[in-house]
Amino acid sequence: MASVQVEAATKDYQLGKTTVPALRGVSLAVESGEFMAVAGPSGSGKSTLLNLIGCLDHPTSGRVVIAGQDVAALDDDALSDLRARTLGFIFQTFNLIPVLSALENVEFPLLLRGGPHGGRERARRALDEVGLAGFERHRPDELSGGQRQRVAVARALVTDPVIVLADEPTANLDSATGESLLELMLEINRRDKTTFIFSTHDPRVMERAQRVVRLVDGKLAA
Ligand SMILES: Nc1ncnc2c1ncn2[C@@H]1O[C@H](COP(=O)(O)OP(=O)(O)O)[C@@H](O)[C@H]1O
Ligand SMILES: [Mg+2]
Repeated sequence: MASVQVEAATKDYQLGKTTVPALRGVSLAVESGEFMAVAGPSGSGKSTLLNLIGCLDHPTSGRVVIAGQDVAALDDDALSDLRARTLGFIFQTFNLIPVLSALENVEFPLLLRGGPHGGRERARRALDEVGLAGFERHRPDELSGGQRQRVAVARALVTDPVIVLADEPTANLDSATGESLLELMLEINRRDKTTFIFSTHDPRVMERAQRVVRLVDGKLAA
């Protein structure tokens, strides 16, 4: 079953009286377990597309189906639930909470989600998996860029998501650090069959993807 289906999705942003067509009819199916890059220059609609797939925003027209569920049919609670249980997010600027330790940042989605205890231990394991055992008590400003992004990867994975969305995850990293982050994502993809959809405009990052789709001016290029 396709993990993600986007059907003829458009997204217009309203800027005062001007309509900005960020996506102009995008159709895309992503199979479960894919390691896929969304490539395209700045302004081509990559973030907009990832935000639609991540249910962080609604399409102006068209449909988004995640793990068999038509997103438009879900109420706010069901959407939060889908985001919390099915999806994981990694952002270009890491988006860690500065006053929390690495461990607390990773534990955070588990606290939001509620449910059984043992979050601390799971968070510890997730940090260990991204190679950050021993850094549990460090705050983000005590970590390098590469380490911060690894904390963000651990935070995205701690809930065992089926799909991980990463918006230009290597854009703020030097190339060697970016390379090793990608290697980590690939390893997790292979081991757990987690679907990864990441955006980039770096040709070296695209090379590592199993499939690359290209956005140009809000449309997929053939
Ligand atoms: N919140 C917004 N309001 C108005 N225009 C936006 C907004 N977000 C994005 N855009 C516009 O939509 C287009 C696509 O943006 P975006 O999805 O961020 O592209 P990318 O991530 O590829 O750089 C751009 O023209 C951008 O200026
Ligand atoms: Mg973007």
